[in-house]
Amino acid sequence: MEIKSNLIGIIGAMDEEINEYLANAEDLYSEIWNGFEFHRGKMAGKDVLIAKSGLGKVFAAMVCQKIINTYEPEKIIFTGLAGALNKDLEIGDVVISHDCMYHDLETEALGYSRGAIPYTDYKIFLADEQLKNLALETMLPNNKVIAGRILTGDQFMTRAKIKEFAYLTEELKGDVVEMEGAAVGHVCTVNQIPFVIARTVSDKADGEAGLDFNKFLDKAAKNSWQVVKTILNKL
Ligand code: ADE
Repeated sequence: MEIKSNLIGIIGAMDEEINEYLANAEDLYSEIWNGFEFHRGKMAGKDVLIAKSGLGKVFAAMVCQKIINTYEPEKIIFTGLAGALNKDLEIGDVVISHDCMYHDLETEALGYSRGAIPYTDYKIFLADEQLKNLALETMLPNNKVIAGRILTGDQFMTRAKIKEFAYLTEELKGDVVEMEGAAVGHVCTVNQIPFVIARTVSDKADGEAGLDFNKFLDKAAKNSWQVVKTILNKL
């Protein structure tokens, strides 16, 4: 697809993040499509399109493809929360995608390894180097920002589940688990749009996961904004 604009698409999974973005944007103009809101405006001097995807792979893919078709962005940034798999990660740390993949796509019977999309070469979606490196320059007062592998599936991981999901770390070498990133990586890769995913750790994918997630939305929104601001300022 030919890129006609220098617009940056920014997708957040939740209201709290979108509200933080909108509070830092100007000249906003909003449109609605199938109940999703798309906000065009300027942020840190750049043209942006801000949208909330909601949870899960399908909504994330729909919103991402809609942004690409209608607004023709040059790049896409996705932000949200994640459960930590890597033991070095603490609550509040941010993982920037080196790459992302589905953990719940399993077609071994057809001869494919976990995450591979049958009858295609797609499996691991590589983030854009420039966006990743800019995002890694984000400074947070009390937390680290590292590059890693983001695993995506339509499951919220808890301690009860994590036992059946040992392959997330052992086989797939994931740093965090979440529910949208690889869908965005997949859509962007097929459309040849550079992308990056930034995830703030809200829980350790353990027994407290649901509680921590809700407690954590405001902090995540602040971290997501720091990452987006850093990228936009340096682009
Ligand atoms: N997003 C935040 N925490 C998560 C978890 N534990 N599992 C899946 N997605 C998440």
